[in-house]
Amino acid sequence: MIGVFDSGHGGLTVLRQLTARMPQEHFVYFGDHAFAPYGRRDPEEVYRLTLEAVERLFQHGCRLVLLACNTASAVALRRMQQDWLPQNAPNHRVLGVFVPMVEALTAVSWRDGLPVPGQTQPDGLVAIFATERTVLSGAYPLEISLRAPQLRVVSQACKNLVAAIEGQAAADELQSMVSGYVGELMAASGGEKPDSAVLGCTHYPLVADCFAAALPEETRLLDQPLIVADSLADYLRRHKRFAAAQNAAGGVRFLTSGDPERVSAFASRFFGAAVTFHSVAELDLLQK
Ligand code: DGL
Repeated sequence: MIGVFDSGHGGLTVLRQLTARMPQEHFVYFGDHAFAPYGRRDPEEVYRLTLEAVERLFQHGCRLVLLACNTASAVALRRMQQDWLPQNAPNHRVLGVFVPMVEALTAVSWRDGLPVPGQTQPDGLVAIFATERTVLSGAYPLEISLRAPQLRVVSQACKNLVAAIEGQAAADELQSMVSGYVGELMAASGGEKPDSAVLGCTHYPLVADCFAAALPEETRLLDQPLIVADSLADYLRRHKRFAAAQNAAGGVRFLTSGDPERVSAFASRFFGAAVTFHSVAELDLLQK
């Protein structure tokens, strides 16, 4: 089983692509609704909550966990991989959404630091739209500069966007909010048009059309769920011990730290399909 973690239900945008790309895999999705949103929490809190979630997913039988949440990936992943995983779960793995996105932006392989064969090395301006905490972490600009110093990065915190999406704000309200963030980013870059843009938060693909409408036509909008799904499929090809058999039935189990009924109703609206969440606390008790 593969664990997919998000602070809430935004990660369902990633999960949708994972199940489409790898129907034979069994995924356990865990949304930490009791403590969402993460975007404005301090780094220590994000680290502690992410670690607790990963431990839970390990206890539920996942040996590989994907942090679909950009905020958790930005703040907690590197520290967890370096300080915690080797001592506490050396046969397990935790992956995030940063590696695939940075590889897609830089055309440089994360593993060997070499240019990906057949791809041209990009230059110009990269726009990152993310939560406040992800922007403050500086993780995107840092990782990009290590691999492609010729790229310039400008980041924009979209402070109220997650709340507006969750609150099902009207389409014109969302468009004007997104246009405002794009305007701020363009002002910060002195009016220069970004060559590519990353929607670095699990919720933002739901308003990708608003970003596409607000950004200059020539800006390439990277599809994070698709890129992450391709990258996980490639990882499983290279690490077969985490992969299901080709003809396995696959499936998804949804867990939440919040109220399962409320979360299921909300997530079904958000996802556009019926989703039934179970309480992670009840499962924890059953396993004791
Ligand atoms: N899931 C978070 C992310 O991708 C956004 C929502 C939150 O603030 O918790 O950054």
